[in-house]
Amino acid sequence: MARHLITSALPYINGIKHLGNMVGSMLPADVYSRYLRQRGHDVLYICATDEHGTPAELAAKEQGIPVDEFCAQAHDAQKAVYDGFNLAFDYFGRSSSPQNRGITQEIARELKANGFIEERAIRQVYSNADGRFLPDRYIIGTCPHCGYDKARGDQCENCTRVLDPTDLIDPRSAISGSSDLEVRETKHLFLLQSALAGEVEAWVDERADNWPILASSIARKWLTEGLHDRAITRDLDWGVPVPADTWPDLAAEGKVFYVWFDAPIEYIGATKEWADQDPDNRDWRSWWWESDADVHYTQFMGKDNVPFHSVMFPATLLGTRAPWKKVDVIKAFNWLNYYGGKFSTSQKRGVFTHDALDILPADYWRYFMMANAPESDDSSFTWEHFTATVNKDLADTLGNFVNRVLSFSRKRFGDEVPAGAEPGEAEARLGEEIARLLAEYEEHMEAIQFRKAAAALRALWSAGNSYLEEKAPWLEIKTNPEGAALTLRTAMNLIRLYAVVSEPFIPTSSAAMRAAFDLKDDTATWVTADEARALTSVPAGTPFTVPPVLFAKITDEDLEAYKERFGGEAAE
Ligand code: 2FM
Ligand code: ZN
Repeated sequence: MARHLITSALPYINGIKHLGNMVGSMLPADVYSRYLRQRGHDVLYICATDEHGTPAELAAKEQGIPVDEFCAQAHDAQKAVYDGFNLAFDYFGRSSSPQNRGITQEIARELKANGFIEERAIRQVYSNADGRFLPDRYIIGTCPHCGYDKARGDQCENCTRVLDPTDLIDPRSAISGSSDLEVRETKHLFLLQSALAGEVEAWVDERADNWPILASSIARKWLTEGLHDRAITRDLDWGVPVPADTWPDLAAEGKVFYVWFDAPIEYIGATKEWADQDPDNRDWRSWWWESDADVHYTQFMGKDNVPFHSVMFPATLLGTRAPWKKVDVIKAFNWLNYYGGKFSTSQKRGVFTHDALDILPADYWRYFMMANAPESDDSSFTWEHFTATVNKDLADTLGNFVNRVLSFSRKRFGDEVPAGAEPGEAEARLGEEIARLLAEYEEHMEAIQFRKAAAALRALWSAGNSYLEEKAPWLEIKTNPEGAALTLRTAMNLIRLYAVVSEPFIPTSSAAMRAAFDLKDDTATWVTADEARALTSVPAGTPFTVPPVLFAKITDEDLEAYKERFGGEAAE
């Protein structure tokens, strides 16, 4: 048994996330956490909403409510969706928590004490009407390239060109609309990443060979381009304030830390939130102090987040000279596309997580997304592919097997697992096959290879179908009722095995399968190789019930309706 710390990239607070976001962070982290818990490990799975930064401020402004209120509501809305997806976080925190504020400030002080933070003067746009410096995004004007009149100071949304605020024609404040702007000198804190570059490189070299290739290649590429010093403060009202005891001038000017500085620290902050809300929780630092070397830390994220997690966050932690636990394995994902184009929050293109749950239960989505996870390449969501996968794998292969076996046995032998006949050659062959596939499944889960793990799981389900076709108990019963009882009893043991091992992917359906059997002292959380070979954990005489249909098929009419509602066309 080991201790596993697991985090998934923190979803931005503004807006309900789309499936593309979930498939690369929270869902795989949940599947992996569930698997490790079932294997008896001590798991802490931490996530949170990423609440600071300009998008939250702007979204709150748009709704006309204070930003803290906006974040509180948006946090609850996101949490409700994740509950609906059965994401079993140990804690889902908020980066705006007092805990995160405290730890972020502590880390910044340590970095300064070690000479890795420096104050530097830069020239920045100041709005006289608003009485404040404006971050690049808060300056709008006409794009010099395409003429779009609402281009932001960092980028033009229309032509996607990256801009500098001084490029804009007729610049004005996004807050007040005032064009009374001037460029003034102001001080910001810089993290001296260049001074940490050698250490970070050595740190990456030491472990990246153990990371799945996507993450290690991005980390190495980033390092080759060189680590530059970065401004880690911003002129915003909403964020972790620069501590006044250490930087009185900057604190007086109301500077806060840049959102990407405090967001990863929230992995630690949320762990403290978790510990603070329940005195039984172990001292949170034991998960985060490297002297506790027994903790194995895995992070899940989309590929755009890899530079921050493989290079910048480690640089931050290394610079503190404190023994903060750093990541052992980074599992990164490519993009999930929608009909070959991008999922887009701003253009409302694709399937959003709350809408997904509105039309079908979580297990359908969980299985589809993980079985098609964009691991080695980008992958594409289409309603046709989703429908085919659900109907074939979940409804036909798994669901139909479960209902067919249990209904038929009840009809012929009553409400208990039937006795009769000893396992023979077919059962021995089946047992070997199941044990082999289970070992394969475990191997892929240990390697955090979800597509391969899902394929092994599907093969386990298929093996049951092949066995049933071979033995054909509906014919066997006419000539050899004892043999038919053996076949059904063996198939019921497969159902029970499926219930246990499918749980990481489809927890609700697994619970329904498991609850079908009234087993005494049913506490097992996994299946041993011997149990898989024997297929006798559910003995004759065990009472059972037939659960409602596990997976309904998606009809042609449903398919058309989904495409109509969500737009099932290739992107231009
Ligand atoms: O890209 C994103 O969605 C960010 N909110 C991820 C932050 S991960 C962590 F560092 F907090
Ligand atoms: Zn433009």
